[in-house]
Amino acid sequence: MSRTLVIIKPDATERNLIGHVVSRLEKARFKILGMRMMKLSKEQAQEFYAVHKERPFYNDLVTFMTSGNVVPMMLEKENAVTELRDLIGATNPAEAKCGTIRYEIALDVEKNSVHASDSDKNAAKEISFFFD
Ligand code: CMP
Repeated sequence: MSRTLVIIKPDATERNLIGHVVSRLEKARFKILGMRMMKLSKEQAQEFYAVHKERPFYNDLVTFMTSGNVVPMMLEKENAVTELRDLIGATNPAEAKCGTIRYEIALDVEKNSVHASDSDKNAAKEISFFFD
């Protein structure tokens, strides 16, 4: 078993899609070990996405991620990182495969509804960002 982090982003919480995402995760047999709802401060969003701070979309991303509620969840499954990334689909929903969460509900490359950790190392780091 391994762990990963998913965040339901403000575009999805705003459209009442928390239950939809949770249902997709549970149907895919992820075990939800932790879940909270919160509003990120500017400092938290900047720190969480610090790896992207030189990218042209960084400031807009921080503004978006602080614009409403987010729902971080700690998940467990075999090969959790890869399985979750397969389930959510490509960053840009225009490139996401049919049946993925982003294909279904994401609006654009920024408002892409969910974040998922991209490696076991980052999963551990991102989980500890939100959970004790
Ligand atoms: P996420 O998986 O949370 O990781 C970084 C985020 O940056 C990504 O999802 C998008 O929300 C955002 N992002 C990535 N590429 C772009 C882009 N080209 N334009 C705007 N936002 C982007």
